[in-house]
Amino acid sequence: MNLKSYEYITLPPFTGDIQNDAQRLMHENGKQKTFDHMLSVAVVSVSLAERFKLNEEKCHLAAVLHDVSAVVRPSDMLQYVKEQNLPVCEAEERFPFLLHQRLSKDIAGAYFSIGDCDVLSAIECHTTLKHGASPYDMVLFIADKLAWDQEGTPPFYDAVYAALDVSLEKACYTYMLYMEESGRLLCPHTNWNAAKNWLQSRM
Ligand SMILES: [Fe+2]
Ligand SMILES: [Fe+2]
Repeated sequence: MNLKSYEYITLPPFTGDIQNDAQRLMHENGKQKTFDHMLSVAVVSVSLAERFKLNEEKCHLAAVLHDVSAVVRPSDMLQYVKEQNLPVCEAEERFPFLLHQRLSKDIAGAYFSIGDCDVLSAIECHTTLKHGASPYDMVLFIADKLAWDQEGTPPFYDAVYAALDVSLEKACYTYMLYMEESGRLLCPHTNWNAAKNWLQSRM
């Protein structure tokens, strides 16, 4: 995705520091709150990386870029994937915001020149997860949910934290079950369904 194609997006000059560059991009496009969220997710991601013996730098990088496509309007997200003849599932068609994970991955690659497959994959499935998710995918998925930006703690917090004592897989599965059983899932994404079935088979 070429951000230069969207005249409403301000593109600040690069400094060479990805976190700093992401912050400036978000800030100058009125998305400071989203960047604050990305930083909160990075804190949780790095602590999970430490706990599960993963590369902390990769987890930090994926977190500070995971919602970077918030600078693009949702209507442009849908138009972009259609113009590129990319597949769109029913959930994405009904709720184009769900495309933001795929577009954030595109922006991380094309705009921030990230080539690390673990980082790009984690960004691409951070809302839905996917079949065969890697530990990096699962860390970002779960950190994004645990970095709660509302008052108090999320209703699934205790259950997901307890599940982390078992495994990352169990924590992801516990969150997914909570979302489905509490009726909070608006429309299941194909990747969500595939991930949940895959995780269930590993419980
Ligand atoms: Fe997101
Ligand atoms: Fe997020």
